[in-house]
Amino acid sequence: MERYSSISELQSRLDKETGGGATVGFVPTMGALHEGHLSLVALSRASCDVTAASIFVNPTQFNDREDYRRYPRSTERDCAMLRDAGCDIVFTPSEEEMYPAGQKATHTFDFGHLDKVMEGAFRPGHFDGVAQVVSRLFDIARPDKAFFGQKDFQQTAIIKAIVAELKLPIEIVVAPIVREAGGLAMSSRNVLLSDEQRAQAANISRALFDARTTAAAGGISPEELRRETERRINATPELAAEYVAIVDGATLLPVTEWSDAREIFACTAVRVGKTRLIDNVRLL
Ligand code: PAJ
Repeated sequence: MERYSSISELQSRLDKETGGGATVGFVPTMGALHEGHLSLVALSRASCDVTAASIFVNPTQFNDREDYRRYPRSTERDCAMLRDAGCDIVFTPSEEEMYPAGQKATHTFDFGHLDKVMEGAFRPGHFDGVAQVVSRLFDIARPDKAFFGQKDFQQTAIIKAIVAELKLPIEIVVAPIVREAGGLAMSSRNVLLSDEQRAQAANISRALFDARTTAAAGGISPEELRRETERRINATPELAAEYVAIVDGATLLPVTEWSDAREIFACTAVRVGKTRLIDNVRLL
């Protein structure tokens, strides 16, 4: 696996590949890699000639300085994992490389309500930072396909909106959530949990999967189910739900009737001590 920290060196390397007709798959990450990230690398390898990943803890998407400071960083270990997973190229830029002094965001996006609900409501500015870094990474890597996880469900909607607005010829592939044996969605932030917190955090996915069973059985409104799911999460010591939302998979807006949407998801953000985790499950 080749590693680049310079934009121009990465680009000339990728140009050589695409010039020869190869397709490029791209997996952007913030490092502290786990099986969820590696599943994206595997998907890319299965459908693209060359797979490139990036590792960059993007400061502009952290609305909370303490969260940025605590975010786990393990670049050497990450590179070894990517190499073992068969990734061809990894891009590990510095902050100066990604954000040269004085350079302003090149594009301001209007996501309508997409960045106002759920994560957008609780993490002001977060999606502006995601959009800034992902549009810049797309511009640098110019991949044929880019791979994202369903775990960051709202992020995938934002990325698709970026590609549509900038008319980029990039196919966005969304991959299923990889979970630990107890059901906890894999996350870089899981390493910040104590053993006790990790055991309790398994109740997040349990509550969401139970919500799916309850929704399928019928006889309960979306709002009743939302409240019941929130109550179940909050009944676990150490867990505090920031929100539970039952939303239309296409618009991300809350549904009031089950017949309101073709695909319906339950989404949540939960504080486990100082750590904030997100998860979602398709209900119907
Ligand atoms: P990060 O949290 O490192 O995640 C990188 C990619 O891995 C995202 O597409 C995310 O959805 C996916 N991922 C994380 N956990 C997963 C899991 N358990 N199963 C499947 N996929 C999972 O998301 C970001 O970084 C950043 O916002 C980024 C897009 C890189 C921009 O900075």
